[in-house]
Amino acid sequence: MKTIILNGSPKGNVENCGSYILARAFANGMSTPCEVFSIAKENRESLMEAIRNADNVIVITPNYIHSIPAGTLDFLYALPPSKGNQTIGFIIQAGYPESSESAIICRYLERFAKRLGYTVLGAIAKGECAGLAIVPERFKKLQNDFSEFGALFEQTGRFDESFISKFAKPVCLTKFQTRMLNASVPISNYLGWNKILKTNNCYEKRFDMPYLEKN
Ligand SMILES: Cc1cc2nc3c(=O)[nH]c(=O)nc-3n(C[C@H](O)[C@H](O)[C@H](O)COP(=O)(O)O)c2cc1C
Repeated sequence: MKTIILNGSPKGNVENCGSYILARAFANGMSTPCEVFSIAKENRESLMEAIRNADNVIVITPNYIHSIPAGTLDFLYALPPSKGNQTIGFIIQAGYPESSESAIICRYLERFAKRLGYTVLGAIAKGECAGLAIVPERFKKLQNDFSEFGALFEQTGRFDESFISKFAKPVCLTKFQTRMLNASVPISNYLGWNKILKTNNCYEKRFDMPYLEKN
């Protein structure tokens, strides 16, 4: 059985790409070689060919603006219909902690792939991944989980239910958790984001709204 992974991040297959890190971890769990292709950086026709030649297609993509990157969506719209015996699965990894952030796009992708005749493995949402590409060493546990998830997929041909629900937590934050998170914003701005903005000489421009229409 040939499995391929499509990385849906516009960053491509590079070390500072969360989708690539998770794709690689998933593939590392498998004993048969599983190639990771970049939707953004590779030739579309050869990617379509790779899909046509695969039994299983796994799409690992980030959540951008409550959906997935436009180029990735555009690519998926051109997906060839299934040959009849192909499976497809989607993994959406997002910055915000709540997996409900990706619920709509997950439902959409599942229905879309079903209409193309694929057997759908599922569409999984995983939140709290913003740091993955910045400090991957702090996400070793998640990477190990993805390797195990990949290994189980290879053995069973399915997405393991216990991992699906584990990745989905928390679906929604409680009111208390939301209050705590809001309270921590000034601290994380001070310690993290503002430092990054200053390093990149754009701290003064942090409230700019270049696309706002002027009256
Ligand atoms: C342009 C942009 C838009 C984003 N929008 C969202 C969003 O709406 N919800 C969310 O949870 N995370 C959002 N994120 C965070 C990414 O999903 C998160 O950082 C992810 O791990 C990036 O994956 P990548 O390195 O594979 O691109 C956004 C990130 C970027 C760069």
